[in-house]
Amino acid sequence: MMKTKIVLFAVSTLMIVALVLAACAPKPAAAPAPTTSQPVPTTSQPAPTTPQAAPTTPQPVLTTSQPAPTTPPPATVAASEGNVIYNQRCAICHGPNAEGTAVGPAIAGHSMAAVKTQVRNPMGTMMAFPVSQLTDHDLKELAEFIASLAPAKMPVQEWEKATSETIHHWMALLAIKDGDAKDARHHLEDVITFVKEPMHKTEVNKALNMMAQGNIHDAEHEIEEMAGSESPSGITKQRFHVLLAQRGNEAENAAEAKHHLEHFMVKATDVQKKIAEEALELIEKGDFHEAEHEIEELME
Ligand code: HEC
Repeated sequence: MMKTKIVLFAVSTLMIVALVLAACAPKPAAAPAPTTSQPVPTTSQPAPTTPQAAPTTPQPVLTTSQPAPTTPPPATVAASEGNVIYNQRCAICHGPNAEGTAVGPAIAGHSMAAVKTQVRNPMGTMMAFPVSQLTDHDLKELAEFIASLAPAKMPVQEWEKATSETIHHWMALLAIKDGDAKDARHHLEDVITFVKEPMHKTEVNKALNMMAQGNIHDAEHEIEEMAGSESPSGITKQRFHVLLAQRGNEAENAAEAKHHLEHFMVKATDVQKKIAEEALELIEKGDFHEAEHEIEELME
């Protein structure tokens, strides 16, 4: 008796699922065999995990079931829905607080637009999450959650406090490592324009002469000595350019800020390019204060 009830229940559940599927699924192909696809009743579990369900349907079930049981205050439900999706889909690479890991960069506080763009059309090595894996609704919740997080505060690195001279030295060193002697010279020539100490100027000229003679190795050592260290590891030229643009902007030196933003844009992502363009426009107008905010976004 009991068993038939369960089976009946299972069958009717299946039929409801099949009906729902038939109603939602764009392809009728999934629906026509509701009776044959009955591997479920044998498990006597009345709540089948809908093996043939379209990938979009299980998600709302998952997410709505989570906030309900433990968190009664409804005010936090929207935020935690995004949080739950974040934990399931993104935390493994971007860290439990979106502060970044060795695999993925920090994304806490990124704008909703930036998150949506990256998730659907990722730049770089990240995989895409199409609608079939992440509905528009879930993406919106997710993006809201990420945007609501305070940007991860990276500890201020020693190198971030370095002077513009030191940074240019480091960039010259990076260029040498990349085998780009011309670029290295370019940075050293930049340094000469604003170095004040005559001794330092002499040393820069010495390094430039060494490079001109093809003595790259000694030039490298000379530059390292001027910088006080090798270029810190893990810092890209892109980041240096942003940092130098920031310094230029702070000093209200439009030419310097623009110069480095333009360098930065050559290898920037589309989203970054847009931000950099906005910064350039603001600098053009002399609005260094607003430009500062845009440049800070590039520092994240
Ligand atoms: C398997 C690892 C992995 C997962 C999972 C992952 N990401 Fe990423 N994500 C990356 C990597 C790696 C990058 C850097 C891409 C590059 O430039 O190569 C990235 C970049 C990003 C960026 C751009 C960051 C920037 O500074 O421009 C955003 C935004 C982002 N991910 C959001 C998400 C969201 C939202 C999810 C969850 C739906 C997610 N990611 C899941 C690895 C991952």
